[in-house]
Amino acid sequence: MNIQDIFDSMEYGPAPESANEAQAWLDSRGRAFGHFINGSFTKPGAGFESRNPATGALLAKLTQASQSDVDAAVVAARTAQPGWTGLGGHKRARYLYALARLLQKHARLFAVLETLDNGKPIRESRDIDIPLAARHFYYHAGMAQLMEDGLPGRAPLGVCGQIIPWNFPLLMLAWKIAPAIAMGNTVVLKPAEFTPLTALLFGQICQEAGLPAGVVNIVTGDGAVGEMIVASDVDKIAFTGSTAVGRAIREATAGSGKSLTLELGGKSPYIVFEDADLDSAVEGLVDAIWFNQGQVCCAGSRLLVQEGIAERFHAKLKARMDALRIGDPLDKCIDVGSLVDPVQLQTVARFVEEGAGDGEIYQPAVQMPDGCFYPPTLITGLAPADRLMQEEIFGPVLVSTTFRTPSEAVEIANNTRYGLAASVWSENVNLALDIAPKLASGVVWVNATNLFDAAAGFGGVRESGFGREGGWEGLLAYTRPVKTAPRATAIAPFAAPADPSSDNPLDRTAKMFVGGKQARPDSGYSRTIWGPKGALLGHVGEGSRKDIRNAVEAAGKAAGWAKSTGHLRAQILFYIAENLSARAAEFAARIDAMTGTKTGADEVEAAIDLLFTNAAWADKLDGAAKGVPLRGLAVAVNEPVGVIGAVCPPDRPLLGLIAAMAPAVAMGNRVVLLPSEAFPLAATDFYQVLETSDVPAGVVNIVTGAQGALSADIASHLDVDAVWNLSTADLDAAIEKAAAGNLKRIWACGLDGAMKGREALTQATEIKTVWVPYGE
Ligand code: NAI
Repeated sequence: MNIQDIFDSMEYGPAPESANEAQAWLDSRGRAFGHFINGSFTKPGAGFESRNPATGALLAKLTQASQSDVDAAVVAARTAQPGWTGLGGHKRARYLYALARLLQKHARLFAVLETLDNGKPIRESRDIDIPLAARHFYYHAGMAQLMEDGLPGRAPLGVCGQIIPWNFPLLMLAWKIAPAIAMGNTVVLKPAEFTPLTALLFGQICQEAGLPAGVVNIVTGDGAVGEMIVASDVDKIAFTGSTAVGRAIREATAGSGKSLTLELGGKSPYIVFEDADLDSAVEGLVDAIWFNQGQVCCAGSRLLVQEGIAERFHAKLKARMDALRIGDPLDKCIDVGSLVDPVQLQTVARFVEEGAGDGEIYQPAVQMPDGCFYPPTLITGLAPADRLMQEEIFGPVLVSTTFRTPSEAVEIANNTRYGLAASVWSENVNLALDIAPKLASGVVWVNATNLFDAAAGFGGVRESGFGREGGWEGLLAYTRPVKTAPRATAIAPFAAPADPSSDNPLDRTAKMFVGGKQARPDSGYSRTIWGPKGALLGHVGEGSRKDIRNAVEAAGKAAGWAKSTGHLRAQILFYIAENLSARAAEFAARIDAMTGTKTGADEVEAAIDLLFTNAAWADKLDGAAKGVPLRGLAVAVNEPVGVIGAVCPPDRPLLGLIAAMAPAVAMGNRVVLLPSEAFPLAATDFYQVLETSDVPAGVVNIVTGAQGALSADIASHLDVDAVWNLSTADLDAAIEKAAAGNLKRIWACGLDGAMKGREALTQATEIKTVWVPYGE
């Protein structure tokens, strides 16, 4: 071939990256690995193989961890933890800095090894995976240094179990390990069984950095080893992977007191408006769905294109697909590499074979290499409810549909159980920024896609999981308040006196409060509330699943509250405080009568104070412009979580109610409150205050009755987004188990925990990161 030929064909010649160093490293380890526990590698044992998915060649043999391996790793981490946190932020920062530097020094070895193990193009592992992993350690070296100053009153959780997937093996390791150890935790991490090699090389880097033994432990194996870690004596589980496994982990950890963050699947919309720069949008789409062969949790796998330009856009897209270069992942000119494993190839192929139905499939007419290669695929003409429009394929398969108006685009985009990321393409910045807050997702990219950085939070809403990774917000998942008072224990209601008829006051039957109205219980039953000396204080409704349903429906209808301004919400909370203050003596007397104490006056004062605090925060919990290395904005916006069910503490019946209601409502959420079972009358008196304080109907709902049954009902309701348990710890297990269905956020905090600093405000918000790169 001469130069003229090259100009004529514009063909790229091969530009293979050498695998020699990576192969030599594998040879130097005897191509057989044990685990990395307590600072050294264990002897290799029976297990499984890791193969290069592009060629099928055996790379190394790995060890399947046994229960005693997992136990040893957890013990090593537990033993190392006090010393590690005791080193202080600065010394930890130096270790993280050393790890970042070593990652950079060995960048090419990591990149080649990653590509061999995973099949992703070297262009990606070299330019994205490894640099971002190093960036994560740099950024969190800084966080270790700043912890005392930037996160006062917070302490590490202890030992963190971390389970990661195979799509970004080293990058996910960095996302998990860097923040955890920066905050003074120690870790036991399990890489995915398809891709354990860079994690083991990282173990060697930990040795080179002189990291104290036991701070980082890496055990290899399949899902069974993951289950062992979940069940082990760790304080937190951080998981990234499939929604099905995330749900199983939620169930397995229910009631264990372990903290949990889940970063799960997605079906992210990629919305192209007719005024978009179509060529840029096509180029973005290549990144959105063919980056890493579409094996990306936030892949832009659902194209939504405005009707008027759909034909033109699809034509441009197909032309671009024809030009994608598919082949040897170690070739630097390759756009699309290999899927991770024959199993994944089969899964993707089956999805398309079984799901395409009446859809039209487009694939470039190129010869596919042998190995786990699947062609870039576009499917048009599917209905919104079709399986391929709804389910995560996790492969290079794009489904496309059209919309007419911006509001229709939002409706289709949100028609999914996921909510991880979204891209919006329009040259009209007002339109794009109008759409961004309306999308149910944790990340929105405007005229961009797949932008990530350590400084910006990443994570989802709905069934895409909970918690954020990156930024200050990511650190909340690896720390806790330094000291919290123990959770309350159950309080039995006072019993009826022997001769109840002797002391009956005028009947005062309290109702529930649903949708701004007083409501009778659906059951038709009431329970009697007796004072400590046998006085009949009143009756409250015996709430049931149907009352919960009505309350959640009412809360759903009050969605406008989420769009109200902080200024308005502040005024309403101040007004509630004013009206409560006007009736302070009456509330104090009621609390004293119910509890038999003389603490009512103090409790009412504390409740008014708390209302003021939350009114004050309503317009002050600001978002942030993140310091990302990009010309543009990455803006962290606080959004309400949605509908929050709150189980109030057994004691402190008024303060406990306010502690749940005020922060939730201040941040724009709607609440369903389950008041103290023993002392519910403070709550039922309180709805009269709500009625006179301009609170819109449905924003606050109160359902009285048995907290045990009602809290499980609310936790299993699919239209509830979060449950807070300020009540007794024995309710946690049932709540957390029931919540696994739609993976709602659970905060098992107790009263003191709910009143610690800004914790409740954080729990009441979901951070959405909106990325807006500047133009030229
Ligand atoms: P997976 O969720 O089964 O695996 C992820 C990690 O969890 C691996 O380390 C695995 O060993 C571990 N694991 C598996 N079962 C476990 C259990 N019961 N308890 C604790 N840990 C467990 O994902 P898999 O099977 O590799 O891929 C299946 C599908 O999951 C993919 O096709 C894709 O749709 C989705 N997926 C999504 C990811 C994401 O980032 N959102 C990442 C990987 C997979």
